[in-house]
Amino acid sequence: MKRVGVLTGGGDCPGLNSVIRAVVRFAFKEGYKVTGIKNGWKGLIEKNTVDMDLETVSGILPKGGTILGTSRTNPYKKEGDKEKVKENFKKLGLEALIAIGGEDTLGVASKLYKEGLNVVGAPKTIDNDLSCTDVTFGFDTAINIATEAIDRLHTTAESHNRIMVVEVMGRHAGWIAVEAGMAGGADVILIPEVPIDIKEVCALLKKRHARGKSFSIVVVAEGAKFKKGDIVTQEEKLDAFGHVRLGGIGHPLGDEIEKRTGYETRVTVLGHIQRGGTPTAFDRVLGTRFGIKTMDFVLKKDYGKMAALKGRKIVAVPLEDAVRETKTVDMELYNIAKIFFG
Ligand code: F6P
Repeated sequence: MKRVGVLTGGGDCPGLNSVIRAVVRFAFKEGYKVTGIKNGWKGLIEKNTVDMDLETVSGILPKGGTILGTSRTNPYKKEGDKEKVKENFKKLGLEALIAIGGEDTLGVASKLYKEGLNVVGAPKTIDNDLSCTDVTFGFDTAINIATEAIDRLHTTAESHNRIMVVEVMGRHAGWIAVEAGMAGGADVILIPEVPIDIKEVCALLKKRHARGKSFSIVVVAEGAKFKKGDIVTQEEKLDAFGHVRLGGIGHPLGDEIEKRTGYETRVTVLGHIQRGGTPTAFDRVLGTRFGIKTMDFVLKKDYGKMAALKGRKIVAVPLEDAVRETKTVDMELYNIAKIFFG
């Protein structure tokens, strides 16, 4: 019997389980066995696997996270790991591997494909920063969580006549900030793509207060930085893919706003709440469609591909193209958001 492997890598994300479930259900229909690789690439280095069947994926659609576990392990980082991946791929008798992840996990998938392994991928990330797909699964859930948080913060902002600064995730792309900010009616939205002009931010807030409003909501993406300043990080250390841990810009931003405007300001950092819990219906359906597409690649032996959403269709794109560059915010969208600033 033929065998396909499946793994989830990078940060956990709502919708991962719907992809896993779709892969397993379709694979079994087509007469394949499925090996679940535990904890991303780490599991393939260590040959830590679990046999999947219809029962292992039963009831997982509404569950957040990933039943396979995940890690930020990079097999290209430590000498010998890449060889172990290749060796174990063979030992496990895999015809192909389905990697579900963001730019890091799929970057590894793309390299391994170029080195001769049969790998395909599905685009995951709350950040929505992968190229060649209109959207990644997980993003819709994240913006809904962030929007709800903004709605709730409005209550305190309004009751206390305060500025509420809401820091959202998104790494070096401002997608979560823009879409959740627009949906939540934010008065200023700050993104990594446009350096923060603190004078302009304060002028917008003052203008709003001058027209009778006594509170404001400022949404800031974790990757945003001041015009004259560096990105704010939580620690100096880099992860296995060379990324810093972002987070914390909300605090210096809140301090500056309070100092310059005199308006009482509070800061909320949403953090991992944005990745937690049950996926939206949109993400469950998108994850399911991506899972089916990746298994379809395997059936057709169409390796080196990533499932992508283009308009309303699921299409195939080369993994290599998807990971080449970060998909940053569409400025047309940001310009619409800006109409509502101040
Ligand atoms: O890529 C998803 C993401 O949540 C980013 O938005 C964030 O910067 C990062 O992961 C946080 O990573 P970790 O879970 O390792 O703290």
